[in-house]
Order: sequence, then C-alpha cells, then structure tokens
Amino acid sequence: MSKKRGMRKNLTAYGDEGFSLFLRKAFIKAMGYTDDALDRPIIGITNTFSGFNACHRTVPELIEAVKRGVMLAGALPVEFPTITLHESFAHPTSMYLRNLMAIDAEEMIRAQPVDAVVLIGGCDKTVPALLMGAASANVPAILMVTGPMVTGDHKGQRLGACTDCRRFWAQYRAKEIDEEEIGEINAKLCPSAGTCMVMGTASTMACCSEALGMMLPGGACIPAVLAERLRNAEATGARAVALSKERLTPDKIMTPAAFENALRMLLAIGGSTNGIVHLAAIAGRLGIAIDLDAFDRMGRATPVLVDLKPSGQHYMEDLYNAGGAATILRELKPLLNLDALTVSGRTLGRNLADAPAPFAQRVVRSFKNPIFREGGIAFLRGNLAPDGAIIKQSAMDPKLMRHEGRAVVFESLEDLANRIDDPRLDVSADDVLVLKNAGPKGAPGMPEAGYIPIPKKLAQRGVKDMVRISDARMSGTAFGSIVLHVTPESALGSPLALVKNGDRIRLDVPARRLELLVAGAELKRRGKAWKAPKASKEDRRGYRKLFLETVTQADRGCDFDFCVPEAKMRVPRLKK
Ligand code: FES
Repeated sequence: MSKKRGMRKNLTAYGDEGFSLFLRKAFIKAMGYTDDALDRPIIGITNTFSGFNACHRTVPELIEAVKRGVMLAGALPVEFPTITLHESFAHPTSMYLRNLMAIDAEEMIRAQPVDAVVLIGGCDKTVPALLMGAASANVPAILMVTGPMVTGDHKGQRLGACTDCRRFWAQYRAKEIDEEEIGEINAKLCPSAGTCMVMGTASTMACCSEALGMMLPGGACIPAVLAERLRNAEATGARAVALSKERLTPDKIMTPAAFENALRMLLAIGGSTNGIVHLAAIAGRLGIAIDLDAFDRMGRATPVLVDLKPSGQHYMEDLYNAGGAATILRELKPLLNLDALTVSGRTLGRNLADAPAPFAQRVVRSFKNPIFREGGIAFLRGNLAPDGAIIKQSAMDPKLMRHEGRAVVFESLEDLANRIDDPRLDVSADDVLVLKNAGPKGAPGMPEAGYIPIPKKLAQRGVKDMVRISDARMSGTAFGSIVLHVTPESALGSPLALVKNGDRIRLDVPARRLELLVAGAELKRRGKAWKAPKASKEDRRGYRKLFLETVTQADRGCDFDFCVPEAKMRVPRLKK
C-alpha cells in the first residue's frame, strides 16, 4: 500500500511528481475545493446509481449521508462512478458482467487518490463485484448496502420480490389466476426502492458480508426506505475516515476465519445458492479457496435458523425488526470465530457483545427448533458431477430428496424455451428435467435458468415440483428440487453433456450423490463422439472472448483465472 496520502497518492505518471501534483490540483480546484479541503484524507464513494437499477434508487441520498459522515470526521469525500448491474437489466445475465464490474471497481480504487473507499452496493452482483475489486485493490474499504424493499400486499396476502413473483407466475401458467390479476400483482411485487426482500442473493450477500466483517454491525437488514438506513450511511462514512488512518486493509478483515463466519451465516439463513459462488470468488481474490466437501460437513452441523422466504415465511423487514444479523450471529456464536476483526475496528465477538440485548421474536429460531435441521445448501458428488453440484435442500420437496427418474433432456436454453410447453413433450411428473449448455462458458455467464419451469401440461395438472438438473445457477428467491452448478459444465464435454433422453438419473441428497445410471463403457463411447459447440463470430471478440477464454468453473467462483492468485489456504478448516 502506498505511503502517500490524499492528493499526493497515485499521481498520474508525467515523470515529474511535482508537476503531476500541480496539474492535479489545478484541475480539482475547478470543482471549487479549497486547499484546506484538498489537504485532508480522501474517502472515495462508489456511485452505483443507474436509472435501470431500482434496487439502487436511493444511492444518491445514501451518498449524501456518507459524505456527511466523512466530513464530520474531518476528511474529504469524493464520489466516483462504477458500472452497476440489475438482475433484470443485464443481458444475457448479470453474472456475465459481474467480473467486469469487479475489474472496474478494482482499477478505479487503485487509480484514484483514495485513502479509503465506501462501497455502496445492494443488488445481487454488485456486492460481490465490489468486494472482489476491493480485495484485489487492498485499499481500506467498508461496504454498505442499499437495504431491502418493504413488502407489498395483494388481497390481504403479503407480497415480496421475487419468491412471490415465481409463485404467482406458476399459478398464472397453471391458469389458477387470470391476466388481469397477474397484472395487478405485477404492480405490487416491488413496492419500494431497495433490494429483493426475501432471502435471495442480495439479502444473502448482505448478511454474509456483515458476518465477514466488511460492514458495520447492524447494516445488513435495515430496509432501504428507513431513516435508520441514512444514519447507517453517515456512520459508515465516519468509520471510513478512521479506517484510512488505521490503514485497515481488506486482507486484514477478510481472513480465513472471517470466511468461515460468512459460510456459517450462508448455511444458517438458508441463503441463496449464488452465495457460495460469490464467496468463492471474493475469497479467491485473497488466495483462499473454498473446500466444498468441508463446506458440506459444516452444513451438517449448521441448521437453517432464519424463517424467511423462500425456505420459510417471513421477509427482510421482519428480520430487521427481530434484531437483524446480530440475532442470527448470537445464535451461531458457539460455531463462530469470534476473534475475527471487522471494519468496526473491533472483533466480531466484541460487536456481538455491544449489540442491543436479545428479545423474544419469531423470525430467528433457536438451534433446538430450526427451520431445517441442516444447512440450506448441500454439496453433491457423483459420476454426473465429478467436481460437484449443489442443491438448496431447505427449499425443496422433501419427497424428492431420494429420487430416481428418466431424463428428459434440453440441449440449450433455446431448446428449453421451444419445447418445455409443447403439449407433445414426452414427460411425466417422475421424470428428471436436464438442461445442458447453461454454465459459465456454455450460456455464457451461467444464467439463473436452473429453475426450469414445470412443463405447462404438468403444471395444469397440479404438479408443483420435479427434480431438475443443470450447470446453470438459480435465483436465490426460487425454490424447488433443483440441482445446480453441475461441474464441469456440459460445454466442456463433461458427463452432463453426455446425458440422453431416457437415461436413468438418481439423486440422493442425504447421501450427497448424483448419479447417471449409464455404464462406463457407454459413457466413454458417447464422450468420444461428443463435439464442442461451435464458436460464433461474437465469441471471438471483445469482452465475450475474454470471458469465454478465462472464466473459471462454479467451484472457483466463476472469476477470471488471471484475477485469482494461487490459493494458499482452504476454508472451512474442518477436521475430516
Ligand atoms: Fe436487485 Fe433482486 S433484483 S436485489
């Protein structure tokens, strides 16, 4: 880390430092700053606002509150833009662009004279991208999230994005509700600014980031529209100034112990399956690899405690009213590394001791009375997924935990869209739907297509869940018996690529197995005959070329391989 501070830091290279500073000051003075302001520590604030990102609608007022905190603490706040990503406004999928945002954040933090940086994120990919960038830049950094939306109401039922989006859409597909009603619901699912208010990826990453120590205590769950969110922003700005003086860099916070705390949180909240990919990517930037077999063992001893949709029934504002992340962390206390340092400058244990006293509430269960007796995510292995796959076991039909069925195969997203609702599709409720070529390279960008819809003709007969398997991801707000992140992905000619219609597939979640019941010799024969998908013209240029050539598989976080240093340690550090 450079010893130079404020305006003297990261000078533009003209070969004459005095001139570089002279020129820099001449330009910045055009913004109206005095020499007194320019002599202060500089706190950068990432501006992730966009007219396309409703989850970040409040960013301008959050920036004002952060600036107030920075100035009250005696430093100069300077905001700067980074790209932003919203789930519904990022074609082909926001995951395809997460690494671009991480590179943008890293390079802008590194290029500009910031002594510390406030990272403002919220929507699913923005928090991981900012933390990945900050981890690589390793300048003192503190995260704050925009916060969750409040819930809506439809005919006396609470509504929230986007578990209820999927629930009502499935009812509409099954002709249980009509065009007019689905239109009414559409206007009520996102009733305020903020992030999805179930335990989707945004809420998951917010809670995990607080456990990781990168956010002020209490910051994860405050709804976006509350005055408390602005007070949290002011406090974050003030704390950023202290971080700059203490030179408390991300590598001192995001340690193996901190990642273990974040993984515990992920399991106990029944968090989004995307959380494991993003935590792997953030950890990877610091030379820490996630051992998914050990993560699964951690899951056997970490029940789901948080009663939030899609695994349970409540919403983020209820978790906030129940004491927020501190209530969960307090329950997890015996399993946590309490001496892990956080951006507050205190340890996680100290933060918990200082948190408001516990009280009776109904959202976070006790260890003795969990929502689900194991962690939300189970890690599977087998000949269909040699490097693993995952399933959100807390949000699936328990009857399908052990299931064998006939494969009904879709070769691509296009094939899926063309045939899933075809009345002639040969499919029954006991079959296993298999989607290929939806992984990191195959789609590309590993879209959230793993939530394969129930074929219309079955949905209309009342079928609510089936076993579905793919190398895709799934929205954290979704639910069902859905095997995701099959690794290696099918675009690499893996066993998933070799599945044919009519093959038998066995899923055994308690035994953590996923097997293609086809003889080894036959699979070898199919492997020899397999041909890689042909590269298109677009595949050979620009960001897409970089992405296709360097993106890693899901188990390594789908980061670019050239951004990830060699792993020096593995977490969680559990005994076998
Ligand atoms: Fe932004 Fe759900 S779309 S958090």
